[in-house]
Amino acid sequence: MTIAATLIEGDGIGPEITDATLRILDAVGAPIDWDEQVAGVGALESVGTPLPDATIESIRRTHLVLKGPLMTPIGSGFRSVTVALRQEFAMYANVRPVRTILPGQRYENIDLVLIRENTEGLYVGYETTIAVGDDPKAVAQSTAIVTRVGCERAIRFAFDYAVANGRKKVTICHKANILKAVSGLFLDVGREVAQEYQGRVAVDDVIIDACAMKLVVDPWQFDVIVTTNMFGDILSDLMAGLVGGLGLAPGANIGEHTALFEAVHGSAPDIAGQQVANPSALVLAACMMLEHAGEPERAKRVRDALEHTVREGIHTTRDVGGNGSTREFADAVSNRVS
Ligand code: NAI
Repeated sequence: MTIAATLIEGDGIGPEITDATLRILDAVGAPIDWDEQVAGVGALESVGTPLPDATIESIRRTHLVLKGPLMTPIGSGFRSVTVALRQEFAMYANVRPVRTILPGQRYENIDLVLIRENTEGLYVGYETTIAVGDDPKAVAQSTAIVTRVGCERAIRFAFDYAVANGRKKVTICHKANILKAVSGLFLDVGREVAQEYQGRVAVDDVIIDACAMKLVVDPWQFDVIVTTNMFGDILSDLMAGLVGGLGLAPGANIGEHTALFEAVHGSAPDIAGQQVANPSALVLAACMMLEHAGEPERAKRVRDALEHTVREGIHTTRDVGGNGSTREFADAVSNRVS
């Protein structure tokens, strides 16, 4: 059966890593009918808006997206398109697994999953600046929105994920000592939901700052971590660092009706257009998409081929110690799956 999916190649290194990913998916015979759409800076330049209606409509039709990274201007300019898509399609759970592929790193045998609440918190973007005297930006204000429903669906997703994937423990990560309302609600709901999984999944909780320290000192004490939007954003980059960097970290945004798969990393403008970007994170995200769409066998073939190629180290990109190009790495993985 053919799978209909929307493809957004993205900005910066997006076109290079998307091309690499499509070559590998072709090689494995993934039966995907792509509807190619634009978003981000590319879309702003070509159609005058970073999130065109045609892209939204395509996602409404396919409910399934593979997306390259999208650039967001810092400080001013348009708001994050990735965040807008998560909110528009209520993709409330962001699944970010990190697993050691490359031996000889600072940490061995890492196998963790971060589940990030994906639609609420400070990232709702309720921000304003207040003028005082002749300073138009004397005060800046941002409002976090956290709802019981939003907490519950993300936390329940984390526990269900743990059960479905044979995970033993869920750690609720919060800042309820200081942010007593917004983070306190997340922790309260977390403890309530945890009771329903008693005897099946262990639970503990940790304050975000201590969690960051513990992840660096002894990451093996964790299994699944569930946390709020911004903490999850920060922690998932830290966790990618445990397994060799952002080039190896995939992510899935899951909602009730729509799922979007992407790399954890951004558009990496510092290396764009040079064919040195590691496409592995997007390829691994595509594997998560294949599994989600009922193609676990092809997902496994791609993942095995990718892991083998990374471990072999002959065609790897420079971020993981090699000197292969993006395309050379993709060809090496393709040759292994086909
Ligand atoms: P970034 O993740 O793009 O890059 C951070 C560092 O990691 C850079 O040194 C980069 O060269 C390196 N890196 C990232 N991906 C790599 C890959 N596949 N292979 C090799 N090296 C890689 O983060 P940065 O620079 O803070 O953000 C750049 C832009 O990306 C910003 O506009 C930001 O808003 C956007 N962004 C988009 C995301 C998305 O679409 N989901 C997620 C994160 C950032």
